[in-house]
Amino acid sequence: MDKILVHGGNALAGSIKISGSKNSALPILAATLLTREPCTIHRVPDLSDTHYMLQILMHLGAQVERASGTVTVTAEKADSVAPYDVVRKMRASVCVLGPLLGRCKEATVALPGGCVIGDRPIDLHLKGFEALGAAVRVEGGDVKVFAPKLNGAVINLRGKFGPTVLGTDNVMMAAVLAEGTTVIEGAAAEPEVCDLADFLNKMGAKIEGAGTRRLIIEGVKELHGAEHDIIPDRIEAGTFLVAGAIAGKAVTINRAEPKHLTAITNALTGCGFKVEEKTNSLTVSPNGVAKPLELATEPYPGFPTDMQAQMCALLSTTDGISVVTENVFPQRYMHVAELKRMGANMQLEGPTAVIQGVHRLTGAQVMASDLRASAALVLAGLKAEGITEVSRVYHIDRGYEHLDEKLSELGAHIERVKD
Ligand code: EPZ
Repeated sequence: MDKILVHGGNALAGSIKISGSKNSALPILAATLLTREPCTIHRVPDLSDTHYMLQILMHLGAQVERASGTVTVTAEKADSVAPYDVVRKMRASVCVLGPLLGRCKEATVALPGGCVIGDRPIDLHLKGFEALGAAVRVEGGDVKVFAPKLNGAVINLRGKFGPTVLGTDNVMMAAVLAEGTTVIEGAAAEPEVCDLADFLNKMGAKIEGAGTRRLIIEGVKELHGAEHDIIPDRIEAGTFLVAGAIAGKAVTINRAEPKHLTAITNALTGCGFKVEEKTNSLTVSPNGVAKPLELATEPYPGFPTDMQAQMCALLSTTDGISVVTENVFPQRYMHVAELKRMGANMQLEGPTAVIQGVHRLTGAQVMASDLRASAALVLAGLKAEGITEVSRVYHIDRGYEHLDEKLSELGAHIERVKD
């Protein structure tokens, strides 16, 4: 296992390019199962999560060709069983259920494992499948869905914590081949859900309302192959904007989509930083004394839960008292104990973190846990005194394409070593 050593104190400057979105690439790769014809997807990020998804597609019988960021998938046939040993590596594997149900009218997928950011149920996914006419059984650690025919239905997918992103994706991917019209109320409106809907419509699906809480899907007989460019990764973009706020003189991120980043740029300007936007790039720079912030994570277009840990790293050295409330995954605070090892002054009160800014953090040995918490620890190390040693960086490699190399390009003193 590798670890990352961050030597704090270097100021960051310059620009980096944002990769394609992990959370768009995963459901779009799964959607290629919906047709026998070849699908070509550009800007697929080079991550362990995308590798796992391609392994699953090959396990299901698809042919996969990869040339740097372009992947061509041809699922002339599609087996309907995704076993535990491939699924257990990545929770998002659950998003093959919808396309397999749509294509094969049955699917058996191992239930996703536990997750450090909190409970990850799929009850809303299954509710959607049942509404389309599928029988659902959970047995022996697998979820099995079966439907002699799928019929359009009106489905409300809103859960206790708001809409479900992969649940909306899954039900949409089953409904595109159902007979009749499906309406999904309480749908997730994330840009990644819109990207999937765009791809499905290129394949011949008839989906309206993407980006709103109400999707209308008119079922079609079959889908054909298509070509698609994955949208930029807004969470990678946000992570680098926060890196620039923590340790930057002026950091520019290119090949980004500013309209997907509004909640993040508003939070950074709320902290007193300057964020300049151009068509496909943003530049963050200090603009006087940073200010404390009250922040709550919400479903899109609200402040994303996937950026909460990174903001905690920034606010831990922002003078004053900041309050962060996590409304999507209330237990998503694995980073707090590790930031406190670096000298942060943070108290958890249920889903809320109260952060008293300290003058400076000190480097320490810390342990990565989930993808975004790990990135937050690297960011905290950028300005900490001394060396921060982040172990278990495979968490980072799941969702960030060469994070350490991109930070080095901006001037960070950061190295990856064998643990
Ligand atoms: C997606 O996960 C993302 N993953 C997550 O990003 C992201 O944090 C999350 O959406 C929220 O934006 C991918 O897209 C691969 P949800 P997903 O279903 O779809 C509850 C990252 O770091 N819920 O939107 O699994 C759930 O417990 C990852 O890139 C139910 O109750 O999340 C949570 O509280 C981490 N029942 C809330 O809804 C269900 O059936 C939102 O979860 C499904 C979800």
